[in-house]
Amino acid sequence: MNITILGPGAVGSLWACYLQKAGHNVSLWTRRTTPSELSLTLNTQENSSYSFSCDNKESLIHCDLLFITVKAWQVESALLPILPLLSQETILLFMHNGMGAIDAIENQISHHPILQATTTHGALKENAHTVKHTGFGHTVVGPFNSLGNQCQFIQDVLQHSLPSTEWNSDIQTALWKKLAINCAINPLTAIYQCQNGELSQPSRHQDVNRICHEVHQVLQQEQIQWTEAELLSTVYQVISATSANYSSMNRDCFYQRKTEIDFITGYLLQKAKQHAISTPINETLYNQIKQLEENLL
Ligand SMILES: NC(=O)c1ccc[n+]([C@@H]2O[C@H](COP(=O)([O-])OP(=O)(O)OC[C@H]3O[C@@H](n4cnc5c(N)ncnc54)[C@H](OP(=O)(O)O)[C@@H]3O)[C@@H](O)[C@H]2O)c1
Repeated sequence: MNITILGPGAVGSLWACYLQKAGHNVSLWTRRTTPSELSLTLNTQENSSYSFSCDNKESLIHCDLLFITVKAWQVESALLPILPLLSQETILLFMHNGMGAIDAIENQISHHPILQATTTHGALKENAHTVKHTGFGHTVVGPFNSLGNQCQFIQDVLQHSLPSTEWNSDIQTALWKKLAINCAINPLTAIYQCQNGELSQPSRHQDVNRICHEVHQVLQQEQIQWTEAELLSTVYQVISATSANYSSMNRDCFYQRKTEIDFITGYLLQKAKQHAISTPINETLYNQIKQLEENLL
């Protein structure tokens, strides 16, 4: 396939290398939009290098799949300027944390097949030319619209390039579950500037449990089939499995970058308001992160 990666940061560079390795014709689209070549080294045991054309309009015009790996808050500003260049058959595949970024531009992109994906692979861009695969994980992909529903073959493309991948026709439920876990872990680890494992300490249980209680009320109204006990046990499993990790929001605050809070806790609050559910602890955490962002940026 002809594939363009929009936003070759950590995740985008990782997939660019694996997709090219699997034999696809991959190009990159960055902010620079000046045609060039870029070589990327995939820092694994093999340490292989791959060469890509960058910011090449012809590649964008002819791409079968646009793989959008910018952060949630960058989706609109990255995608809308290049939309007129795309063929209407181009499949749009979004991979970012949080929810709501696609809804905001849905009317402008609904003529494309749209897919959403979530991944637990870990990636780190060590420098402009090196991406490190920091942890093997699992990817779930599914349709955002009915045209996307006809693109199940993309699961094979991803699976063949970077396993493991599954197709989930109810991707919204998968994304809600991921969002629920992120609501419990990300803001607390960013505010306390701690590793995920610290949330397993008894002194943090009350916060985690209260967050999950509010999140669960919203999940119920969104018809997500997950008991509060299942949510809590999954959250504590993730905390334990990733105890030495720093969450992405923790890292964003640490490096004084804008966070994805508006698309994680912010999205939850928006839905809670629509359902008239009171969510005081999540509101407090949201405001604390926004305050941190204001002070840091
Ligand atoms: N890293 C991980 O291990 C991981 C794992 C799972 C999920 N995620 C999620 O995946 C998403 C991407 O994360 P990431 O770590 O890859 O972030 P990242 O390294 O910051 O990558 C985002 C890339 O998008 C580029 N970009 C921003 N605006 C653009 C525009 N207008 N046009 C073209 N490119 C643009 C950025 O360019 P600049 O460098 O110029 O800003 C950057 O290269 C996030 O939602 C994250 O939460 C990450």
